[in-house]
Amino acid sequence: MQKRLPLIAGNWKMYKTGDEAAQTAKRLKELVSGVSDVEVMIAPPFTALCQVAVEIAGGNIALGAQNMHWESEGAYTGEIAPGMLTAAGCRYVILGHSERRQYFGETDQSVNRKIRAAVAAGLKPVFCIGESESQREAGQTFSVLDKQIQNGLESFLLQDLESLVVAYEPVWAIGTGKTATKEQAQEVHAHVRQRLAEMIDSGFAQKLRILYGGSVKPSNVKELMAMPDVDGALVGGASLDPETFSQLVHYQG
Ligand code: 13P
Repeated sequence: MQKRLPLIAGNWKMYKTGDEAAQTAKRLKELVSGVSDVEVMIAPPFTALCQVAVEIAGGNIALGAQNMHWESEGAYTGEIAPGMLTAAGCRYVILGHSERRQYFGETDQSVNRKIRAAVAAGLKPVFCIGESESQREAGQTFSVLDKQIQNGLESFLLQDLESLVVAYEPVWAIGTGKTATKEQAQEVHAHVRQRLAEMIDSGFAQKLRILYGGSVKPSNVKELMAMPDVDGALVGGASLDPETFSQLVHYQG
């Protein structure tokens, strides 16, 4: 089986000022220095990116953003362009998070444009998908995810997707303390990989990293990461404290 480098990513959402984020990043850098068998990424708020970039320089933590616009510049009040993120030191960008879809009107179509723009700017997209609780209860999990994947990656070519990371985040598990069981996560991840093998290419699907997100914490990370198709975690709450997040990065013990 293809060896995939695990990615443990922290989504700091709308938490931390620039100074608070810099302090957290500084401590995290010490705690994860020397880790080379796991990739570490943190996505602070936009206003903290530059300060965090300074703190993590020369270390093994990658910087990410939580959203961006698809245009390279223009009269789009309040938006941030891909080139602004790369200039701030970002290598990753989280796109299509369920909170963006739920509260800010993001659609599969806008996510598609953003993924395209991220790739063009040299940013690695972390493409988020996930079903709601009612969709899961109605037995629609796979069809919902298939649609998000189909539309989100519509008309992409294999060569555009080399840097893609997918994050499966069941909406009912985000910030609720309700984690998907390792079996539920594995079932979905295997499905997503299979779907992408059919849609794009089987070699690509084998190399693709699929992260799990939703109430990941030190007590459950190891069993989730032991699943063959779980290649990492996208962590909200438990990424805010550097000691806790470092425990996640060191999940192998
Ligand atoms: P929690 O880890 O707080 O459940 O958040 C998950 C998430 O949304 C990461 O993007």
